[in-house]
Amino acid sequence: MQLSDLLRCPSCRGTLDDKGSKDGSSCPSCGTAYPMRDGFYQDFAPEIIAQSGFGQWVLESRPGVAIYEKYLRVSFVRVMGQNWDGAFTPALEDAYLVSHVAPVDGPVLDLACGAGRWTRTLVETFGPERVIGLDLSHTMLERTHRLLNELTLLRGNATQLPFADASLGAVNCSNSLQLFPDPEAAIAEVGRCLKPGGTFTFFTFRKSTSPAYRLLQGPWEKITRVQAFHEEDLRSWLTKAGFLVTDFSGPKLIIQGTAVRG
Ligand SMILES: C[S@@+](CC[C@H](N)C(=O)[O-])C[C@H]1O[C@@H](n2cnc3c(N)ncnc32)[C@H](O)[C@@H]1O
Ligand SMILES: [Zn+2]
Repeated sequence: MQLSDLLRCPSCRGTLDDKGSKDGSSCPSCGTAYPMRDGFYQDFAPEIIAQSGFGQWVLESRPGVAIYEKYLRVSFVRVMGQNWDGAFTPALEDAYLVSHVAPVDGPVLDLACGAGRWTRTLVETFGPERVIGLDLSHTMLERTHRLLNELTLLRGNATQLPFADASLGAVNCSNSLQLFPDPEAAIAEVGRCLKPGGTFTFFTFRKSTSPAYRLLQGPWEKITRVQAFHEEDLRSWLTKAGFLVTDFSGPKLIIQGTAVRG
């Protein structure tokens, strides 16, 4: 299937004209234009200049993105996931993706792909023509483009995805649900865009049940404007979005999960 067949106006879900052309496209129904930026990605969130919150501000800044994977992400996972011994490694994340992402026919979306380290794992597993990276941060997309320069990249908002209903084969979302202002709405969007049988894999964080650890995790959530989850909330949002949860695991405060679209 061509990318142009999958794309829809994120605002009104209308079919786009000039889909994916060099000049981008626009929606005949609501009149919104979705321009190409820097020749390598189409912008499906042109109305969002910068999302609020210190965490997202860092993830859109050049210095922040330059040190994101090597330093910021490692420290973030250490505090939020209680990964003080470093036992939860990038290689374990790779292994989880390889064993749990199980697409039905259709593209594999890396939702909030960031700087692309785990998008690359999906590309190595499913091939570059099958993977799409989407993120809200221009600077992150630039970084992923440098790493995977043939990959289809889109700028977009997790709560208004630019895809047709039941068009994607699988969706992965690593280390990002906690950052979305409305994670329940993002999960509902993933449910709308996934084909029946396709997997949704995610890696995020539990709220600690230890009052002592909450003294650290709580302020860290406030400073970086993220939220750790109660497992029951995630499960109920997934169920409401039409998913069957098939795995809920991960050490300490780390959640690795897989849900299959019914
Ligand atoms: C902590 S990073 C994770 C990146 C990558 N998946 C990883 O595991 O390293 C979170 C990403 O979510 C993106 N993001 C934040 N809000 C978003 C939204 N509403 N829609 C799409 N992406 C968003 C940020 O720009 C950032 O790249
Ligand atoms: Zn529209």
